[in-house]
Amino acid sequence: EAVRVRTPASAANLGPGFDCMGAALTLYNEFCFSLLPDEGSLDIDLKGIDVVHLTTDADNLAYKSFKRLYDRLGKKTPGVKIEIDMEIPLTRGLGSSATAIVAGLVAANHLAESPLSQTELMELAIAIEGFPDNVVPALLGGCHLATKDEGGWLICDIPWHETIIPVVAIPNFELSTADARRILPSGYDRQDAIFNISHIGLLVRGLETGNPEWLKRGMEDRIHQPYRKTLIPGYDEVKQAAIEAGALGVAISGAGPTLIAFVNADRGTEVGTAMVESWKTHGIHVDALSLMLD
Ligand code: HSE
Repeated sequence: EAVRVRTPASAANLGPGFDCMGAALTLYNEFCFSLLPDEGSLDIDLKGIDVVHLTTDADNLAYKSFKRLYDRLGKKTPGVKIEIDMEIPLTRGLGSSATAIVAGLVAANHLAESPLSQTELMELAIAIEGFPDNVVPALLGGCHLATKDEGGWLICDIPWHETIIPVVAIPNFELSTADARRILPSGYDRQDAIFNISHIGLLVRGLETGNPEWLKRGMEDRIHQPYRKTLIPGYDEVKQAAIEAGALGVAISGAGPTLIAFVNADRGTEVGTAMVESWKTHGIHVDALSLMLD
């Protein structure tokens, strides 16, 4: 028996939505899980981009997540062959790890005849990743906001205006999420909290209406980007170049270093080219992709 799972990249945070908002993008990793006759056996086959950084033993994240579901069910993990075809570059802020977590859980749940609901899968995925804003869009697609209170996790879909596309500029250097989290302060001023609260309102309304001023200012934040931009050479110039070429707003995708611009569909190529050229002046090679919301 085999199950194939195609999981989208995601851009987390989108500016002020730190650790709560993310959008799925039309760039995918594909995972094929086939059961092997010997219990506990594991065979992992990798192809595509950045695979030299992935392990093919029991530490592989897709396998760990697959096993985690069987552990949760109190069942032995069956032997499995996992073929992974990677299209999403690693450690660039595009939720590549989230794709492995979601694929492992979804495949195991399917092979175990779906004992867990989608909400339970989502909660398990968030527990493995530690934050919700990549795994939720990776599992559900679209743009979502996730929050947790005494009532547990709550997921809310964010309407996305049809004229807006995301352009992602992916530089050829890595930035570990752990390093990009370590640089953040442990507390914030009330003024900074108010700034982010008001800007997430602007961003949500900007995404819904396509209003350029709301989108541009709605991607500003004071919780993570002012600190993280110091880890991204050329950040201010690339952002400025994107805005001058017609981007409606620009933010760090996830923990970076990828930058995501929101663009009217007819300006995608110009904005992507401007970001590539600007980063080139810092000696950084960039792939710019005009994508869609998955
Ligand atoms: N919200 C997380 C962070 C996403 O910004 O650290 C990491 O991809």
